[in-house]
Amino acid sequence: MKKTFSLMLLALLALGCSDKAAYKLAKMDHFIEGLMKKMTLEEKVGQLNLPVAGDIVTGEGKSVGVEDRIAKGEVGGLFNVKGAAAIRRYQEIAVEQSRLGIPLIFGMDVIHGYETTFPIPLGLSCTWDMEAVEESAHIAAVEASADGIAWTFSPMVDLGRDPRWGRVSEGSGEDPYLNARIAEAMVYGYQGRPGEQFTSNDEIMACVKHFALYGGAEAGRDYNTVDMSHQRMFNEYMTGYKAAADAGAGSFMASFNVVDDVPASVNKWLLTDVLREQWGWDGFVVSDYTGISECIMHGVGDYHEVGVRSLNAGMDMDMVAEALFTQTIPGIKNGEVSRKTLDRAVRRVLEAKYKLGLFDDPYKFCREQEAARVLYSDENRAIARRISGESYVLLRNEGGLLPLQRKGTIAVVGPLANTGTNMPGTWSVAAQHARTTTLLRGITEIAGQNVKVLYAKGSNLCSDYQLEMNSTMFGRELGRDSRTDKQLLDEALAVARKADVIIAALGESSEMSGEASSRTSLDIPDVQKDLLKALLKTGKPVVLVLFNGRPLTIQWESENVPAILDAWFGGTEAAYSIADVLFGDVNPSGKLTMTFPKNVGQVPIYYAHKNTGRPLDEGGWFMKFRSNYLDVDNDPVYPFGYGLSYTTFEYGPVSLSAPSMKEDGKIVASVEVKNTGSVAGKEIVQMYIRDVVASSSRPVRELKGFEKVLLQPGESKTVSFEIGVDALSFWNQEMKYVAEPGEFKVYIGGDSRTVNEASFELL
Ligand code: BGC
Repeated sequence: MKKTFSLMLLALLALGCSDKAAYKLAKMDHFIEGLMKKMTLEEKVGQLNLPVAGDIVTGEGKSVGVEDRIAKGEVGGLFNVKGAAAIRRYQEIAVEQSRLGIPLIFGMDVIHGYETTFPIPLGLSCTWDMEAVEESAHIAAVEASADGIAWTFSPMVDLGRDPRWGRVSEGSGEDPYLNARIAEAMVYGYQGRPGEQFTSNDEIMACVKHFALYGGAEAGRDYNTVDMSHQRMFNEYMTGYKAAADAGAGSFMASFNVVDDVPASVNKWLLTDVLREQWGWDGFVVSDYTGISECIMHGVGDYHEVGVRSLNAGMDMDMVAEALFTQTIPGIKNGEVSRKTLDRAVRRVLEAKYKLGLFDDPYKFCREQEAARVLYSDENRAIARRISGESYVLLRNEGGLLPLQRKGTIAVVGPLANTGTNMPGTWSVAAQHARTTTLLRGITEIAGQNVKVLYAKGSNLCSDYQLEMNSTMFGRELGRDSRTDKQLLDEALAVARKADVIIAALGESSEMSGEASSRTSLDIPDVQKDLLKALLKTGKPVVLVLFNGRPLTIQWESENVPAILDAWFGGTEAAYSIADVLFGDVNPSGKLTMTFPKNVGQVPIYYAHKNTGRPLDEGGWFMKFRSNYLDVDNDPVYPFGYGLSYTTFEYGPVSLSAPSMKEDGKIVASVEVKNTGSVAGKEIVQMYIRDVVASSSRPVRELKGFEKVLLQPGESKTVSFEIGVDALSFWNQEMKYVAEPGEFKVYIGGDSRTVNEASFELL
């Protein structure tokens, strides 16, 4: 034993590991090697088994008889169990009753916070604030880790360019660069910074999902076929996964979809060649919920075949399908899978448990007293309030209607106005839904004594009962009002007529986006739109507070409603932080991370598109034999990167430190930004680059840098971006990562349409 340890240590040192890291790795290898020698085949496949024991079930079938199975060593981990006490009970069975006492790993969908929830990820991305993103993930880890959770199924880094797909709400939008930055910030928030990961009790393991390309589902229909060129994959869709892998994420989750016609769960090219060999990543891969057995429906094999194929492809843990657990031993017996392959998967799962410190203390994450102190604490909620306030995007503000003054009468109207349970948004399984404040109450409290606040529901979510029921999950329905549409409307109009200003809280319910919540219409649902029109007809100023898990088609609203604040689903403190913004205590600073289309026919629409051979003239429409539509122009309602503030910003010209650079050199692009308004505000300064001529057609512009700056009234700051060769490189047709000599344009401004440009040459 001692000899193997020394040999391992020497090998690691030869590979260039630091003394300390090499010693730690060798110690882990030595421990796991010893443990695996004691394990039977049955105990080994048990480690690959991840049944669900909690109340949150997102597929078919709930695992039964879990306690007995844990005692027999048939379970490697459990997920979506809520509460340290319940988790401790399961862990005791594993540690005290199973033959080897191997601890379980407990996972959960801690997607945007735990009990204290932050904005849905799409909203969070609109902060463009990497410190805030990391902080939100860290607080999620602080709470979850005290309550028994060692492992979160987050970050979700699937690039989303089709708002019909309900899961764009769980991601960070349409941009490869921003997606990558957010992916790494999330991993740091959960696990700690590289070199220091899992060194404290409140760090949990990230699980990067869904690998890969899930956001490319055709027609935005969930779980649908994905098919794209390898250039698009690696230049656009893969950047988030890669960044998360480089940030040290401990685990990955395979996606439900096919990649190159092979379901991800059995795709060796994806799970082994790319993830482990090309990227050099060394964590463990878990399937998605019954992802392995769903390969039968994909038509690539029977239960036995898909189980064996999945393990051989590089899968290490099986969520709910039980295929690795039941099919591996028969597969070994008939020579389809080797013991070495099984051992490799078992080792990866045990390594994760080891890294998390579960062998030292299986109850490390069950800290009941601490849980009572940190869960949903005032301190965490205050941070959630601050961060959610930065996620809202002011889309329109005609005549400076916002911020509102603290006087007169305000009518708060709409089906989203008086619901707390919807505020946390989709995938908020541990949230305190029942304790979450309604917008009505938030506005009433923040408005203060001098304001009279009136309320009317105004309409149901939609007239279509079926649609409303389809978008109901976990009991978070809005509650259908039995009054007729007319009765609801009349009541709202009566209230509106008494008010000086109307706040219309409209849009989607929280479960109208998220998993299995695809839509073919992206309009604000019919009865709500009728309500909005009627409110506008009163002649009173209307502020639309929009709730949405995806871009909606709000062209009409953008032309007719004087003020629109996109509030997404802001989490636990949404009601207060929306009110903070409405009354100007917080100056809105969010900017869109997904393009808002004019209609569904324009989808997918994103700023970093290719030019085509027949581009339409900038701002033009319609031209025969050009790339455009007969019935609508090519412009979105709101572009990527867009968002207003209560102040205004002015940009100076882009200046470059040199007219050219060599491949190993750098250029600094700078711009002066001035706050020209009368209140302090934060501006997200964005830098885009265009490779003008290349061997492949390149996007018309791509985000390559951004910085969020706070400017006092009248204050100017010079914002600089260093451009290195990476910002100029792309995967070419031979799938080589290259930067090609020639002209590059640099654009710097406040959204993706900026024309503020300069150019330089790569020599
Ligand atoms: C989802 C995953 C999630 C899992 C476990 C699946 O349906 O696709 O994102 O982590 O369920 O709840």
